[in-house]
Amino acid sequence: MKEALYEGKAKKVYATDNPNEYLVYYKDDATAFNGEKKGTIHSKGILNNKISAFFFEMLTKAGVPNHFVRIVSDREMLVKKLEILQIEVVVRNIAAGSLAKRIGWEEGRKLPLPIVEFYYKDDALGDPLINEDHARVLNLATDEQMKALKDWGLKINSILSTFLKGKKVELIDFKLEFGIHNGELLLGDEISPDTCRFWDTETGQKLDKDRFRRDLGDVEAAYKEVLRRLTGEVC
Ligand code: TMP
Ligand code: ASP
Repeated sequence: MKEALYEGKAKKVYATDNPNEYLVYYKDDATAFNGEKKGTIHSKGILNNKISAFFFEMLTKAGVPNHFVRIVSDREMLVKKLEILQIEVVVRNIAAGSLAKRIGWEEGRKLPLPIVEFYYKDDALGDPLINEDHARVLNLATDEQMKALKDWGLKINSILSTFLKGKKVELIDFKLEFGIHNGELLLGDEISPDTCRFWDTETGQKLDKDRFRRDLGDVEAAYKEVLRRLTGEVC
């Protein structure tokens, strides 16, 4: 296979014969805490490719412009080429993870309204929390784009939360990345248990990467359970 254009912690990106499209390859590698903790989750690449494809297709039907073109193989999807904005958009419904620490709320406490946060994608700085003014000063996005990121974040949250409730999954929080394709802002990256917190509605069981981050065990089984609830597919 050709050399990757870009290799991240969980995915590789390849050029294709079409200058407008990239091939994304999902790896089994897992990292946490800005790469300090490393491991592999067996089959994760296959599961996240399928789970992301499912969510992107759902969002396309709901009118959310995104980079997904089609699944190519177990671990590969074709996407539209994006110039990724160096901003992570995190949307939260329930206090967990870094928010629980920052504001001193116990994990699991419901927020009275969803919170949208922005993080500066910079490994050397450890992806710090920023606001719209920082984004403007750092030239990461225009004011109009920042407003669109927040609006899309909330809209996607509402679509995903409602759908997942029907699958007995609570969407605690999640991270999105966006990019520009032919001048248009599109949702990119992935939507998977690596980038979302999913808790079983009835038992509160964690069905996401916190099982890896916190050494809770049964990581692969949790990812498989998410795919099964979404598509019925037993992988
Ligand atoms: P946090 O509570 O650690 O800030 O994470 C919030 C959400 O963002 C959670 O669903 C996991 C996701 N996330 C990523 O996808 N990548 C990251 O590097 C981090 C820190 C969080
Ligand atoms: N993926 C991130 C990292 O390795 C962190 C995380 O998902 O917790 O740094």
